[in-house]
Amino acid sequence: MSAAIIDGKAIAAQVNQETAAAVAAWKAKGITPVLVVVLVGDDPASQIYVRNKTRTCRELGMESRQIVLPAQTTQSELLALIGELNADPEVHGILVQFPLPAHLDEQAVIHAISPKKDVDCFHPENVGNLLIGETEGFSPCTPRGVMELLARSGFDPAGKFAVVIGRSNIVGKPITAMLMQKAKGANATVCCVHSGTPDLAQYTRQADLIVCAIGKPEFLRGDMVKPGAVVIDVGINRVDDPAAPKGYRVVGDVDYDEVSQVASLITPVPGGVGPMTIAMLMRNTVTAVQLAADGK
Ligand code: GUN
Repeated sequence: MSAAIIDGKAIAAQVNQETAAAVAAWKAKGITPVLVVVLVGDDPASQIYVRNKTRTCRELGMESRQIVLPAQTTQSELLALIGELNADPEVHGILVQFPLPAHLDEQAVIHAISPKKDVDCFHPENVGNLLIGETEGFSPCTPRGVMELLARSGFDPAGKFAVVIGRSNIVGKPITAMLMQKAKGANATVCCVHSGTPDLAQYTRQADLIVCAIGKPEFLRGDMVKPGAVVIDVGINRVDDPAAPKGYRVVGDVDYDEVSQVASLITPVPGGVGPMTIAMLMRNTVTAVQLAADGK
């Protein structure tokens, strides 16, 4: 069997169209959504991510402000900037691109960003809301992107056995919480496996749905997947490839060639989850405008 491909680019384009319409409605009321993206240092992958976020923002009619700070920026300088952005009524959303240089404290940054402007949905208040099933407000971008891909591909997780591989705060933990919610488009039985799980494949082999977010290139092999399972690949890894024009290739956390022979539905890398992450960030920026307008 060869799996059908979930086209993340096409689905993200649909979501972005909806967001552009919402942006136009705000602009008709005299409000332009503003997202500020802060990049500290010159990590090449982060530079590409930030550029893509900025470009998409502008394509959808929003204003994107990029603030690039030198790698030597101190913690207090960064926190002072966040304080100013929190207080600026023109700014709706704030995103500080991670990873930060090693001397900076990411947790302190997450706590410092106003929960009302936290378009990443990393602040503990927003993470708590997610866990207890609040549907208003922000949703974490990559996990919400995965949920949208499933919904818009016609896969209903209800009653299915879902295995999430990875327990990061950005993907593994929130997607586990989202899939288990008693809600439309969720209601799965969920198991989260990770680097501390012995014989991890005994779980993945039973799964109807696998969300792979472990950060290891081509980790999920064909013999770890039940025939007909749905497989979502969250990984973006650069691997050396002297034959490639740039000297590297981008691969996911799933061995695509093997797993696409076993699964029924699969996301490619690139062109799967990646475009959805940005689409959900754009949607969260519009949500930030709504929160500001509601005075919430
Ligand atoms: N670095 C990698 N993914 C993300 C993300 O979703 N948000 C931020 N702020 N940084 C990231």
